[in-house]
Amino acid sequence: MLIKSAKYLISSPDFQSCPKPDFPEYAFIGRSNVGKSSLVNMITGWGKLAKTSKIPGKTKLINHFIINNNWYLVDLPGFGFAKTSKTNRIKLKTMINNYLLKRQNLLCTFALVESRLKPQQIDLDFFEWMAVNKLPFVIVFTKTDKLNKTKLIRNIELYKNKLLLSWEELPRIIISSAKTSKGKDDILNFIEETNKIFFDI
Ligand code: GTP
Ligand code: MG
Repeated sequence: MLIKSAKYLISSPDFQSCPKPDFPEYAFIGRSNVGKSSLVNMITGWGKLAKTSKIPGKTKLINHFIINNNWYLVDLPGFGFAKTSKTNRIKLKTMINNYLLKRQNLLCTFALVESRLKPQQIDLDFFEWMAVNKLPFVIVFTKTDKLNKTKLIRNIELYKNKLLLSWEELPRIIISSAKTSKGKDDILNFIEETNKIFFDI
């Protein structure tokens, strides 16, 4: 898919304030600092569309971007950010969960995990929650430029094996790097195909 336009639209504190659900929508989610905002910028090719930061907890609202004037990309706050208060963490979690459960036009969520790390319980719990709630998602391994191929394959195998302990089938997996643009076509092709389903109905 060619990106002809990518614009920041609005930041919302809850799903009720989000734009009218008139276009297909895709959200990026994952732990703080995993690279969600960087991936928004990478796949759109618009360098500073979403604000990124070395300090975890940068994104605090539901950020809508409108791409090619016919689909929405959403950058969500990270979960599990340890340096914020418990009250804030619960507030964020409620906001994200409500958004994921109630946003009618959300076709798929990209769940980002850091390729350098062993399977993290917080990510596994999130996948489980998505599955229980029958919400479709794709797993995206981020920052793959930071490790060599052998280590990358090993970490992905570890993840798959862990998931296969409780899952019959694995979700789709995409390997990415915001630095090298790896995974850009995989993500955009997937969105292009899924958009067709939305507009065909
Ligand atoms: P929060 O909004 O705080 O939840 O973080 P986020 O998930 O949006 O992460 P963000 O995109 O802000 O990136 C966090 C840090 O990781 C930044 O310093 C980025 O430059 C860096 N980063 C993100 N993606 C990549 C990548 O693919 N490769 C490398 N080398 N660094 C990356
Ligand atoms: Mg962010």
